[in-house]
Parts: sequence; C-alpha cells; structure tokens
Amino acid sequence: MLLGRQGAIILTEAAIRVFGMSLWNRSRTKPKAWLTDEEDRLTPERSLWQDEDEPISHYYRWIWEYLAYLPLLCDVERHSSVLEIGCSHGRTSRGLLQCLRSPGSYSGFDVVRVQIEDATRRITAIAPNFRYSHADIYNRHYNPQGAVQASDFVFPYEDASFDCVYAASVFTHLLPAELANYFQQTARVLRTGGKALFSLFVLDFYRGAGTPISKDYEFEHPFGGHQGVAVKYPEYPDTVIAYSEEAIGRAAGSAGLEVLRIVPGLWSNNPGIAVNEQDLLVLGPKSR
Ligand SMILES: C[S@@+](CC[C@H](N)C(=O)[O-])C[C@H]1O[C@@H](n2cnc3c(N)ncnc32)[C@H](O)[C@@H]1O
Repeated sequence: MLLGRQGAIILTEAAIRVFGMSLWNRSRTKPKAWLTDEEDRLTPERSLWQDEDEPISHYYRWIWEYLAYLPLLCDVERHSSVLEIGCSHGRTSRGLLQCLRSPGSYSGFDVVRVQIEDATRRITAIAPNFRYSHADIYNRHYNPQGAVQASDFVFPYEDASFDCVYAASVFTHLLPAELANYFQQTARVLRTGGKALFSLFVLDFYRGAGTPISKDYEFEHPFGGHQGVAVKYPEYPDTVIAYSEEAIGRAAGSAGLEVLRIVPGLWSNNPGIAVNEQDLLVLGPKSR
C-alpha cells in the first residue's frame, strides 16, 4: 500500500470530519428536510428559530394551524387586512400567503429586529402586501435593550384599520398592565365587526401540578396582587403566565372588547375538545 495503514486511517478520519461537518452545517442552515425549493427559500435559518433543534414539522405546524384558525374563528378572507402582534420571522404569516390577495394585506410587528429583517427579505420580496416592522419594545428575554415598555406601546397603525388582529404565543408572556394595553390597542385598530385571536393560558383549565402536558405549564404561583393571574416562575413572571376567564373578561371589558369564544388547548390535558397547544381567545368590539 502506498499510504500505509497509518496514512489510510488519517485520510479516513479527515474524510469523516469533512463529511460530518458538512452534514452538521447542513442541518443548521438547511433544516428543511422534505421541503420543496420554494418552501425552503421561505423558511428561515435555524439560528433564527426560537429553538434551533425543533423538528421541521413543529415549525410547519404553526403555519397550517393559523391558516385554519384565522378564516374559521376570525372570518379572514381574501381581502381582509390582518395584523399580527409578535410575528417573529413571519412563521404563521406564511399560511396567509395562500389566502390574502391585494387589497387584502398583512402587517406584523415584533421586538426582534433580525427576525423582522429576515421576514422582509424572504416574504415581502415576493408578496409586497405583507409587511413586517420592528418595534423597539423592552422584553427581558427577546429585547433587553428595548426603549419602550409594552404597557405604554402604541401600535403604529391607524384607528380601525384591521379586520383581524392575532398573536400566537405572545400573551403567554405579557404581564397584566401589558395585556391591558395590548387589548386597548387592539380595540383601537380593529374595525367594527373585526375579530381578535390570541393564544394564551386560561387559568380555569389548570387542575394542579402534574396535570398539564408539560411541567412548563404549571401555574402554582399567584402573581402579585392580581386576582386571577398566576405564573410558573415568580422571579421571572414573563416566562409564562396564565389568566383566569374572569381576569380576561375584565381587561377586555375595560378596553371596549368582549370575549366571543374560548377554545381550550391541549396544554391543560383536560378531557374534551382541544385544538391548539394553548387556549384560543376570540375577542370582538363590545356590542353597544
Ligand atoms: C413564543 S414567540 C412566538 C413567535 C411567533 N408568534 C411565531 O408564531 O413563531 C413570542 C414572540 O413574541 C415576541 N414578543 C415578546 N414580547 C413582545 C411584545 N411586547 N410585543 C410584541 N411582540 C413581543 C417575541 O419577540 C417573539 O417573537
């Protein structure tokens, strides 16, 4: 043998390293498994995901789910104008690409600038009626340098400019004053007859430690002096927070909204109908 046994081993190891490394790189930047090229181009790199190790099916599940919820629960149709709070890199908005046609439009805002830039690059480039904006709101985890408190933030849109406002897994992090402000802002930007859809945790469905589908959803600690509000971690209450129906109804009423429906989620492990992992709250302008 020209190389000898030692040379062959070194070459083999080098090949494994190069091949293994390229596989590893592929899995980080091309996590897209069974996607077509077009779907692949619309999917952000894993470094921008909330959890880089999530399976692609989990990423896609959100797209499919909200494409069903928004027409079904909020009457979204071709020409609707839709606002998403906390749109991240535009994941759930991708479902709406199949549904909205100009003059129908989608606007989303989020506190993380790189995700907004990424969504704009990938999605606005092919659908100009889909727009993503950065909002420099303070969030301990997502935007610790943020300039504005969520409790003071004014949504940067005209009054009565949307048929639907929605948020996927954002109210699960909002403290009471923030939720109250976001309900008020929602009431302001919703048109008459419009609807809002927010996923969150409804405390009434919680049956105690050990009962939810995950320990992450245990709400053993009442939050401050707030009636009907509980958290998992008292020292970091914005990690995950739950509101009773009563507390939600009170905040909605003060904002000029009313609760139209609550669709229970899977998290609480209650028997019966469950749709999303979280509970789905549907709000509308209060009828006079
Ligand atoms: C659990 S992630 C859900 C992301 C997104 N809705 C999705 O479907 O992939 C929560 C998102 O809320 C955003 N966020 C946190 N606080 C916010 C606030 N006060 N206003 C708007 N978005 C916020 C975060 O930046 C993050 O993108």
